[in-house]
Amino acid sequence: MTVSPAAPTTRLRNGDALEDIVRPQDGLISRRIFTDPEVFELELERIFGKGWFFIGHDSEIPEPGDLVTRPCGIDPVVLIRDDDEVVHAFLNSCRHRGMRIARTDRDNATFLKCPYHGWSYKNNGELLNAACENHYGEGELVKEELGLIPVAQLGSYHGLWFGTWDEHAPPLEEWLGDMRWYMDIIFGRTGGIEIMGPPQIWEVDTAWKFATDNFTDNFHVFSSHHSLVELGMLPNNPDFAAYGHMIVAGNGHILHFVQGEPGNDHYRSLGLSHDLREKFSEFLTPEQKGIADDHGYSAGTMWPNFHWLQLISAGDMESEEEAFLNLRMETPISPTRTRMWSWLAVDKDATPEYRKKVYETYVRTFGPSGIFDQDDMENWEDCTRANMGPAARRHTLHHKMGLNRATATDWPGPGVAYPDSYGEMTQRSWYAQWLQTMAANGNGRRS
Ligand code: FES
Ligand SMILES: [Fe+2]
Repeated sequence: MTVSPAAPTTRLRNGDALEDIVRPQDGLISRRIFTDPEVFELELERIFGKGWFFIGHDSEIPEPGDLVTRPCGIDPVVLIRDDDEVVHAFLNSCRHRGMRIARTDRDNATFLKCPYHGWSYKNNGELLNAACENHYGEGELVKEELGLIPVAQLGSYHGLWFGTWDEHAPPLEEWLGDMRWYMDIIFGRTGGIEIMGPPQIWEVDTAWKFATDNFTDNFHVFSSHHSLVELGMLPNNPDFAAYGHMIVAGNGHILHFVQGEPGNDHYRSLGLSHDLREKFSEFLTPEQKGIADDHGYSAGTMWPNFHWLQLISAGDMESEEEAFLNLRMETPISPTRTRMWSWLAVDKDATPEYRKKVYETYVRTFGPSGIFDQDDMENWEDCTRANMGPAARRHTLHHKMGLNRATATDWPGPGVAYPDSYGEMTQRSWYAQWLQTMAANGNGRRS
């Protein structure tokens, strides 16, 4: 995660070099990078124009013609299964004047007809009819060249579809690298997951990186969500989420696994029901099963802005604790405003009763109405406001926890693991990838 001294310098207009103000190797991150429009413009081009981005899950488009409209980076796409069951992701924009061609969150369509002048496309992207074709002269309308614009590469892993606008980006599986081993545990543990219902989508007045930074942060929980401790919904122990490991999986992918304190087997088997736990041995290697058996919750970030949260929580004071799997994404709208996406995922083999309990727990705890998200959003908005001014922006934020921590020698999984799941090793790795990507022309590769 150390930036090479030979790395090219990326200078901002006032002469500051990104490498000088963002120093993950020292645990010091400039406040400026969160709200500065100049930094944001660079992020759009170098991160959101070129990285790999989550678009949707197979289970959201099960039938031919099914589509969902989502961002890929920040550009709008249609994720669609064509009549031959091939999945595509097209820029959601007509080839004529650029009008949006799919205008609802989800639909089923054999043809996509642009409302502006009526060009219509097959669900495999081919332009079928333009408008008023008899008014085009010879060579003025070459339909074969005017199909919908596909993402440069589209790939899936455990049914999760990712796209990139960069034809030179490494293939998805190479990009995910060691993170795949951990994704197997989260998404493949019982033979597959599916999304329950549509995602919740809402906007927050935050810089997108504050939401991202929070994702593998365990030690904010006791303080930020202290009202839940007082209600008896979280353990009254500041270290309750510290028992576990943090893992740096490469390419900016980061995660943690948390277990109960020694002698407490509360956080185990990812909190899943017994019928689901029994499937671990069928779908996971012994090492992966060992991790799933020994841990109760986990959060992970697939660089830069897609996350899982496998959590055990009660939905309110009267309810039993349940485990749920929440998928999350942040899409920046401006330097200080962010669109949040939140999906509930459930194991395909889960019973209807189990799904109902999981759903009730999830909606009470996460998403725009969730008690956890309410606390978190207030933090992110206040961090954004307090870091915007010219005085604040001259200073750094502190990310030094675990800077000198030795790596774990007994962790059975790939990547670099650290004992103790309170630490900022993961965030530093994320910012190192940010710096490398911003100093390059995308995908962390220098040009
Ligand atoms: S913009 Fe789509 S048909 Fe004109
Ligand atoms: Fe939180």
